[in-house]
Amino acid sequence: MYGLYRKVFQGGMTVSNYFLGYHMPEYIFGRGYINRLPQILKEKGAGKVLVVTDDGLMKTGIADRVLDLLRESGIEYALFSSVQQNPTSEDVEAGFRTFCEKGCDSVAAIGGGSPMDCAKGICAKAAHPKKSVRQLQGLLTVHKRVPKLFVVPTTSGTGSETTIAAVITDEETHHKATILDLFLIPEFAVLDPELTVTLTPELTATTGMDALCHAVEAYTNKTYNTKLEDLLSLKAVKLIYDNLIPAYQNGGDIAARENMQLAAFYAGRAFTRGCVGYVHAIGHTLGGLYGVPHGKAMAILLPHVMRAFGAAVHERLADLSDACGISGKDNAEKAEKFISWIEETKRKTGIPEKLSMIRDEDIDQIITWAMKEANPLYPTPVLWRYDEFKTFIDSVRE
Ligand SMILES: NC(=O)c1ccc[n+]([C@@H]2O[C@H](COP(=O)([O-])OP(=O)(O)OC[C@H]3O[C@@H](n4cnc5c(N)ncnc54)[C@H](O)[C@@H]3O)[C@@H](O)[C@H]2O)c1
Ligand SMILES: [Fe+2]
Repeated sequence: MYGLYRKVFQGGMTVSNYFLGYHMPEYIFGRGYINRLPQILKEKGAGKVLVVTDDGLMKTGIADRVLDLLRESGIEYALFSSVQQNPTSEDVEAGFRTFCEKGCDSVAAIGGGSPMDCAKGICAKAAHPKKSVRQLQGLLTVHKRVPKLFVVPTTSGTGSETTIAAVITDEETHHKATILDLFLIPEFAVLDPELTVTLTPELTATTGMDALCHAVEAYTNKTYNTKLEDLLSLKAVKLIYDNLIPAYQNGGDIAARENMQLAAFYAGRAFTRGCVGYVHAIGHTLGGLYGVPHGKAMAILLPHVMRAFGAAVHERLADLSDACGISGKDNAEKAEKFISWIEETKRKTGIPEKLSMIRDEDIDQIITWAMKEANPLYPTPVLWRYDEFKTFIDSVRE
């Protein structure tokens, strides 16, 4: 019965998707292009900008470099730099208070998914000041013009610079959930690969695996994709196949950094319509409950989820194998080789094979939240209900 409801829901979504107007932000991509940010802010009519970033970006000096550029160009700004990894509802509320107190009219996020999502949350709050973050979480809840949002991604992973999503953890319940709205697609993205060379090897690997996960989940979901999402997923997977290990081994390999940045951007656009799946639905709960970095949760779960889907994903994984030039005698063998490549990449980059943090008493909560996030919205190749989630989680715990 639920299967039928899900089919009808996803049929409705497939039709609605044609009217929703998915688009990419305006963007520029190139080495040193961060220097163009002030000009873009001026051209787009930004008045006083709230710069949203985090402690790590302050320490690398990247945030200061951007602030210097703004000062030199006479652009007024206020700073909110205390976004946590896996940003919380309180981060959004605090950022929104700064936005109001300082009289800002636009927002610029400098950082990975955490500052970008917090900035999106601040924008959503600006459109609905009386609503709590919890009330804003869900599908198409913003539905109103928000302050202009400029994004400068400094990880190559989340793709938040092009997506409709802001993933925020509820401070009280630790429930990590998503605001999904087309009004949250940023106004403008500045993609400068030079800003990613300071990523540690570990961050390079885990955030890169997040991008891979977006492309693989969007591609294997299939249902909502047009040719564009399929193409972008294939391109992203190939770029990651060729460049993740070089970027991990030599952070200064600017060509590899460039390709990883593009891969993350393409994969983000692919899943913004194609959706993610059970890797994300389970992974978000680990971020919320235990603070596991998002990319690490994704990397651990991805091969296990794909293998658990079995024959339902062989054809699509075989396509991804073909895109990477991995050969095999049939779809099943190509799919297996593709999953083995993900596992090998995890080993090479020191990512654990299984999950060690899950407590027995949390399993019911994890499954409830994962099901709430994924069913019926995500068109996963196989439908999992409570028992399948339970079997899966038991199989991936150390
Ligand atoms: N909105 C979306 O579409 C979307 C998609 C996937 C994930 N997410 C969310 O994004 C968050 C994760 O973002 P993330 O993986 O980009 O990591 P992050 O933003 O949490 O950053 C991780 C760490 O890397 C540091 N860092 C960032 N750039 C750096 C650089 N260039 N040099 C050195 N250090 C740097 C940060 O200071 C931080 O300490 C999670 O909350 C996740 O749920 C959002
Ligand atoms: Fe992700």
